[in-house]
Amino acid sequence: MKRKLFLLLALLLICSACTSSAPAETPEPSPTPTPGEPAKTETDFRVEQLQTIAGFDETRLEDYLQYFDLGPHYVVPLVNQGIVNEENYGRLLDLTHDPYFLLSRASRYLDNPKETVRETVESVNADRDRKPFDEAVENDPSKDLLVQANKYYHFPDGYVPEDMVPIAAQYGIQTSLREPAYEAYIRMYEAARTEGLDFYITSAYRSYDKQVSLYNNYVRNDGVEAADRYSARPGFSDHQTGLTVDILTSSSNFSTFEYTAEAKWLAENAPRFGFIMRYPDGKEDVTGYTYESWHFRYVGDIAEAVTASGLTYDEYYTYFVRGE
Ligand code: DAL
Ligand code: ZN
Repeated sequence: MKRKLFLLLALLLICSACTSSAPAETPEPSPTPTPGEPAKTETDFRVEQLQTIAGFDETRLEDYLQYFDLGPHYVVPLVNQGIVNEENYGRLLDLTHDPYFLLSRASRYLDNPKETVRETVESVNADRDRKPFDEAVENDPSKDLLVQANKYYHFPDGYVPEDMVPIAAQYGIQTSLREPAYEAYIRMYEAARTEGLDFYITSAYRSYDKQVSLYNNYVRNDGVEAADRYSARPGFSDHQTGLTVDILTSSSNFSTFEYTAEAKWLAENAPRFGFIMRYPDGKEDVTGYTYESWHFRYVGDIAEAVTASGLTYDEYYTYFVRGE
């Protein structure tokens, strides 16, 4: 009995040694100032934060503090660049709360207000405040599968993608596609077939010259304004990437495709195979083009992320790919 008691006591001792050997918690910094030092004010803390930001300029401290709610990272550049003032402070504050706010575009948001903050940021991120075609820049070939082609990015003269492969007759029109897009298309097509669906490619890579003849034809029939809502001008087409397919079924056309089971399946499943719907319904103000239920663009691994974000590729590209 004594021996048992002894063992129990020994155990208790060991356990208490375990706990007491755990590292002591770092004590909370004492709110009481060290004797002789005055207590730090809220302003002192703000100044300390501001001083760590690149571009901090002591002479502008008053303005930084006046607009401090923008956050130290935004307020320093926005004051330094003379963008924030008493009149636009509230609007800027709202804009910075948008998840896709870009500091580099702050003035453009202010100059191009839409009904809501989201619409303002969305529109400017998609470059819709720029003059289409005239203010376009050349697209960046280093972006490879993520290359942008819209009314604000055009291909250099004579651009033809590399790694083009011919499309086999069984898949539709015998033009060509870049190899990774073609391989992914075949995987997607085969998956759809196992679910009893069928569709074909009605347009894929289009050269500059092909787009010239298409676009001119549309303009002749509908006029420039109407044509620009549904057709890209030569040098601006997503089809020139060699990563794009227009898909139809044998019993549908461009007006009826969206109601087919195949269109529904593609809208849901294409991202799993690396394709995104490039011109979604209700986004003409952002993409510059009316809804195209048939037009799918290969972007590879990021397709599901793009789709889940709910952003158009125009905005997604600016925010996530371009790197501003
Ligand atoms: N229909 C799309 C916008 C194109 O022409 O590329
Ligand atoms: Zn198309």
